[in-house]
Amino acid sequence: MQTFYLRNEKMSDFEHSFRHALLQWFRQSARDLPWRHNPSLYKTVVSEFMLQQTQVKTVLPYFERWMKIFPNFEALASAPVEAVLHAWAGLGYYARARHLQQTAQRFVQNPPRSYRDLLTCPGVGSYTAAAIASIAWNEPIAVVDGNVVRVLARVFNYSEIFTSKAAAIVWATPHAQRLLDKKHSGIFNEAMMELGAVVCTPMAPDCKHCPIRTLCKAFREHTVEICPHFHSTPHFKKTVNRLWILTNEALLLEPSRIGNKQLWELPKLTEERKVQFSNLKELFRAKRSITNTTYTEVVYQPHPLMNENRSEMFFEAPIFEGCRFVPIAELHTVALSGPHRRWIVRILEDGNTDKG
Ligand code: ADE
Repeated sequence: MQTFYLRNEKMSDFEHSFRHALLQWFRQSARDLPWRHNPSLYKTVVSEFMLQQTQVKTVLPYFERWMKIFPNFEALASAPVEAVLHAWAGLGYYARARHLQQTAQRFVQNPPRSYRDLLTCPGVGSYTAAAIASIAWNEPIAVVDGNVVRVLARVFNYSEIFTSKAAAIVWATPHAQRLLDKKHSGIFNEAMMELGAVVCTPMAPDCKHCPIRTLCKAFREHTVEICPHFHSTPHFKKTVNRLWILTNEALLLEPSRIGNKQLWELPKLTEERKVQFSNLKELFRAKRSITNTTYTEVVYQPHPLMNENRSEMFFEAPIFEGCRFVPIAELHTVALSGPHRRWIVRILEDGNTDKG
C-alpha cells in the first residue's frame, strides 16, 4: 500500500507538495515563541533542553526569566550550579539543568559544530541534537519526536501496532529523513513538531485546518482518530500520603535524593509516622503520571494540631531525621521538586489550612 509513495517519480511529487504545503503553513501560522525572536544558537540550545519532556506553555515563563539571568553561554557556564538549579526550579527533571550547564561549558571551551559533535554533549540525545543542528546550522537531520511520529503515521496511514515509542521512532525516522526539506531543515523540523503539537494532536485533531490533509492517507480513509496504534503497556496505580505541617509560618520539608541531586518535598506520611497522629485531615490531592504509573498524592494535616512543642518534636523525632522547617517566605530559595512547589502554592492559596 505504501509502494505508491516509494516509486521515485511519485515520491518526489509527493515530497514536493508536502514540503511546500507544510512550510507555507508554518510561515503563516507559526506560534510567536520567544526563542523564535532574533534566534541564536544559545536560545535554540536552551529552548530545546527546556522542551525535552515539557510542553511549550509551561516552558515560556522559564525561558524568558532564564534569558535575563543567563543571557549567553558564558554567563550560564560560569554560574554557580545552585543558581542554575534555582532558575530551573519547577520545570522538573533537574538533571536537564545540570546537563544544560555542562553543555554550555562545552560551548565555551570546545564548541560542538555538528550533529555528531552535539551527541557528545551531556543531556543531548539524537532528538535534541537533530533539533539544534537543524535549527541553528540548517544541518539536514530530521527531528523525530512523538509529535512527528503521529503526523507521519497518519500521513502514511500506518496500520501496524507500535510496541513502544522507541519502535515508533525507528519506523518514522527514514520517512522523516526522506521528506525533510534539505534546504530548509530547521524550519521544516520546527513545522513538523508544530503541526503535531497544534493541529495533528492525539485527541481531536484539527484536520479542517491541516495544511497537508489532501496528502494524508489516514484523512482520506477516515482513520485519523485511531492512528497510530500503540500496544498498551501495563498501567500501575500507587497512592503516596504526605504531611502538611505548617508552624510559625514555616513548612516542614523532607529531602529526597534522586541520583546525585537533592530536592525538597512534603514529608512522606509513612505507616511509622502515622501512629504519631491521632487525627489526620485530608487537605489536598493530586494525580501525576510517571512512565507507566499513576500516582495519587494525598496531603494530610494533623488535626487538631499537636501540642505547643510540636516543632521541636518533629525535629527531634528520629523518623523525621533530615526534615527541616523552611519559612514560607524563604521557600523560593529551596530546590523544591516541581510538582511539590505547585501543590504547596495551591494549598497556601486555598488558605483552608490550620496555620500553626
Ligand atoms: N518542541 C521541541 N522543540 C520545538 C520547537 N523548536 N518548536 C516547537 N515545538 C518544539
